[in-house]
Amino acid sequence: MYMPSRYTAAIVGCGSIGHAHMEGYQKLDHIEVIAVADPIEAARHQYIEEYHISHEFTTVEEMMDAVKPDIVSICVWHLLHAPMTVAAAAGGARGIICEKPMAIGMGEADRMVEACEASGTKLVISHQRRFTPGWEKARQLLNERGIGDPLFVNCTVAEGLTNWGTHAIDGARFVMDDPKALWVMGAVERQTDRYERDTAIEDACMGLIQFERNIQLFVQSDLKREGASAGSFLIRGTEGMLDIAETCVRMMNTDSNGWADVPLDMKEGDKAIGGNANAAQTQELVDWLEGGAEHRGSGYKARDTVEMMMALYESARKNQVIHLPLQEKGYSLDLMIQEGNLPVTQPGRYDIRDFLRRDHIDEKEYARLRAEGMGHHQIMNQLDK
Ligand SMILES: NC(=O)c1ccc[n+]([C@@H]2O[C@H](COP(=O)([O-])OP(=O)(O)OC[C@H]3O[C@@H](n4cnc5c(N)ncnc54)[C@H](O)[C@@H]3O)[C@@H](O)[C@H]2O)c1
Repeated sequence: MYMPSRYTAAIVGCGSIGHAHMEGYQKLDHIEVIAVADPIEAARHQYIEEYHISHEFTTVEEMMDAVKPDIVSICVWHLLHAPMTVAAAAGGARGIICEKPMAIGMGEADRMVEACEASGTKLVISHQRRFTPGWEKARQLLNERGIGDPLFVNCTVAEGLTNWGTHAIDGARFVMDDPKALWVMGAVERQTDRYERDTAIEDACMGLIQFERNIQLFVQSDLKREGASAGSFLIRGTEGMLDIAETCVRMMNTDSNGWADVPLDMKEGDKAIGGNANAAQTQELVDWLEGGAEHRGSGYKARDTVEMMMALYESARKNQVIHLPLQEKGYSLDLMIQEGNLPVTQPGRYDIRDFLRRDHIDEKEYARLRAEGMGHHQIMNQLDK
């Protein structure tokens, strides 16, 4: 007997991460993806053909008016996260999964939370690594006091703080049960006119975040490439250390006789992460919609990660420790640039994700490579050369 899906879903932004959202939806029988929105026709058609989707639109507003999906995935570049989330919420979405970084500035992050509260929409930010077996195991080990009380977290990221840093900071918060941040101190260098997906970013930065429970987190971005990762970090506790990544965890404590690999509860496909983590975060949204607990990656949690990153920039701007809550609502890195306090010494704007722009590529070649099974990111990189 034909059973209609319990939920309909739609993708806004038919680019690279939209594929991971699609893979997640495909693993859940009770959700059917019925529509996509993207201004670029070739991008829409690629999705429609590959995933057999019925409806296509050029804007999120048209899509919400016409087909009113229950769940909307926002998979566009950062500066569009707030307007698209607000539009999807106003258009009647019951749940939204918006990509990271949630927003560039606290004004935008809070606008998203408020819009979703006003429409009764449940907002999730795609810090999907919270669903990886390594991070889940690390959280369990910390709960069981495997290394005593966490004291110090070390994160080394690259390609922009708001890009990789949001994952690593969010991950450390997750495994330590989301402690409240008290203050942030940061330093920033920007001698080149560097952007990431249309957002001004630093050449390098570092920051210290003081949490409650006497925990500190040190993050450095683009200072050291070796070992840099969005998905891994090291925690030192009162009685040991944890070395954490998405699919492996090592622990050292008085019982371990040096570093010991911790067995993980891996599901088939967990090594690839994308689809499985997205399916799990989508399922938890469905559970939340049906009266379950707040999602582990809710907009409420993610706005705090945005606040820590924005406070790092504000600290560099003001040359002082920034006590939270952060008062500045804008993007302090942009403000520093506008105020002339970060003069570029090597002129020439560039974007480290420029290769993702779809407007100038050979679409026939794209389709050929995609049919051969190549990933979107890899194709765009190849066609950019
Ligand atoms: N969670 C993760 O691990 C992860 C990984 C990669 C990217 N991301 C995030 O996903 C977001 C998208 O990045 P991407 O790499 O997929 O970019 P992308 O360039 O591959 O795809 C973006 C798509 O959005 C479309 N678009 C542009 N304007 C639009 C509009 N007004 N309405 C609808 N669609 C529009 C573009 O045409 C493009 O097809 C970014 O914020 C990025 O940080 C997250």
